[in-house]
Amino acid sequence: MEEINSKWNARYAYASKQLPEPAQVLVRGSQFIPSRGIAIDIACGLGGNAFYLLNRGLTVFAWDISETAIDSINKRKSAVLADVRDVTVQPPLPQSADLIVVSRFLDRGLCAHLSDALRPNGILFYQTFTAGLSNPDYMLKPNELPDLFASLTPCYCDESAVNEKGFAQAQFIGRKEVL
Ligand SMILES: C[S@@+](CC[C@H](N)C(=O)[O-])C[C@H]1O[C@@H](n2cnc3c(N)ncnc32)[C@H](O)[C@@H]1O
Repeated sequence: MEEINSKWNARYAYASKQLPEPAQVLVRGSQFIPSRGIAIDIACGLGGNAFYLLNRGLTVFAWDISETAIDSINKRKSAVLADVRDVTVQPPLPQSADLIVVSRFLDRGLCAHLSDALRPNGILFYQTFTAGLSNPDYMLKPNELPDLFASLTPCYCDESAVNEKGFAQAQFIGRKEVL
């Protein structure tokens, strides 16, 4: 984990100071974003998703293993509650979130915790790669997101074609039904 942390710290040390755009899945599925509640941006990076959700009126927690990424969010002096956190060791607590967003990050062992962390009616937005990365462990197989989140009711699924740079991503929005 030390290695992952150093890799991302180094990458963010030279990143643009501009706030990244939110993930396409959030913008595309914006009608599913609740008007209030607790949102968690998992492996948030520089917080493009977190700031988008803050502006939509949610209380936003943003967690990442990289101190450099979290410092950059905290320097903006916003209401985003950003913390250094290894989400594989400390996943969100059960029934703690109304919305969870994950973009460009995959740890299959975390997925059951994410489903458990949603409150009834809570909504998950997930978007990550299906092609273009060197490590196959970080890439989804075809139709994998609906399988990983089989306990949620799918609201939206999409898998893009491979682009000219060799990348493709899958998107999934799923809701936890009230039992
Ligand atoms: C490709 S970046 C994506 C960042 C952001 N979600 C986005 O879409 O711009 C992957 C992020 O995962 C974070 N990360 C990797 N392993 C992690 C872990 N175990 N716990 C928390 N964050 C982690 C990295 O520090 C990095 O910020």
